[in-house]
Amino acid sequence: MASTAEAKALLQNHPVELPPEHVYFGPSETMQAVRQKVYRAAGLNVPILVLGESGTGKEVLARFIHERSPWHEGPFVKVNCPAIPGTLLESELFGFQKGAFTGANAAKPGRMEMAQGGTLFLDEIAELDASLQAKLLHVLQDGHFTRIGDHEERRMDARVICATNRVLAKEIESGGFRADLFYRINVITLTLPALRDRREDIPYLVEYLREQFNRRFKREAGPVSKDVLQILHQRDWPGNIRELENCMARYVILGSEEAFHSDRHQQEKKPLSFAFELNEDGNIPLKRIAQQVTRRMEHDVILKVLQANHWNRRKAAEVLKISYRALLYKVRQAGLPAKRPLRKPDASPADLAGIDESSLLD
Ligand SMILES: Nc1ncnc2c1ncn2[C@@H]1O[C@H](COP(=O)(O)OP(=O)(O)OP(=O)(O)O)[C@@H](O)[C@H]1O
Ligand SMILES: [Mg+2]
Repeated sequence: MASTAEAKALLQNHPVELPPEHVYFGPSETMQAVRQKVYRAAGLNVPILVLGESGTGKEVLARFIHERSPWHEGPFVKVNCPAIPGTLLESELFGFQKGAFTGANAAKPGRMEMAQGGTLFLDEIAELDASLQAKLLHVLQDGHFTRIGDHEERRMDARVICATNRVLAKEIESGGFRADLFYRINVITLTLPALRDRREDIPYLVEYLREQFNRRFKREAGPVSKDVLQILHQRDWPGNIRELENCMARYVILGSEEAFHSDRHQQEKKPLSFAFELNEDGNIPLKRIAQQVTRRMEHDVILKVLQANHWNRRKAAEVLKISYRALLYKVRQAGLPAKRPLRKPDASPADLAGIDESSLLD
């Protein structure tokens, strides 16, 4: 639900992710303990393992540690292990000499080398295959590595931070992860709690994110109401802070608490099933279906934005990052009213959308 079509459309030109130095810990005991440990560990030249579910902030924490470490003037080099296919990953990590393999037309340093004097962040470490696990273990034990196809030993001079959302103990038990590598990378472990396990931080995070996004999007969204805080407090947050962050970005951009409610509806909704129309010849033309889906989405998003901006179409066009003329055209195309409809006491968005132009306010 964090990535509803609505949010996607609105945030298309606004990356939500906050700059790396922004890590908000919150007053919960668990996060305060993490904070203390982070400050103690940042300066030590030992590997750090960051654990936590997806969206709990493993990467931002790694960057935060880097910024506060003696290696902060060096680079922060991230290796997203699962994103790089097996054999490529080895050359990405270690680099290669010219002619090391077909296609190696010139020597290339690996990310270990690029991280010299800085931090090497190995993300999703549990995804490393057995052979790379063995090679990494060797580097961490020995402090040296060699480029593929090379004889020269190079010193590994970077702080290593690893992260995973897997339970490594289980991976070791099933034989998916080497116990000896685990002991190497696990000198200091920082475990980030799931948001649902530190609900007391939610109001603080909401306030923190509201301020951040107000600044970023040049908005002035006020504090959220107690009712909304209550709703947010009760949610399970499977996407953790990433999900809350998206939610707050929508709120700030829309400038309306509608953002939270639409979000809740999205959560309750079944997955979108679109009853597409078959062509007379029985074909299913993908292009036409895509157009139909886009129109339907546009209708909903434009309606929400118009409602949130009290039918101020110039403002809505600005939020949607389209020209005023384009908005007028799309409003017509979507069959939406050109002006704010007369409010019925319990009018739903569908009622409002369907209302006939003759009953419009000036
Ligand atoms: N403590 C925090 N303070 C501020 N923002 C945070 C915090 N934790 C996470 N975030 C935000 O939540 C988003 C997800 O964070 P991050 O990418 O670090 O999570 P992750 O644990 O690495 O997730 P994944 O396992 O899916 O890669 C980011 O946009 C980040 O800015
Ligand atoms: Mg991550």
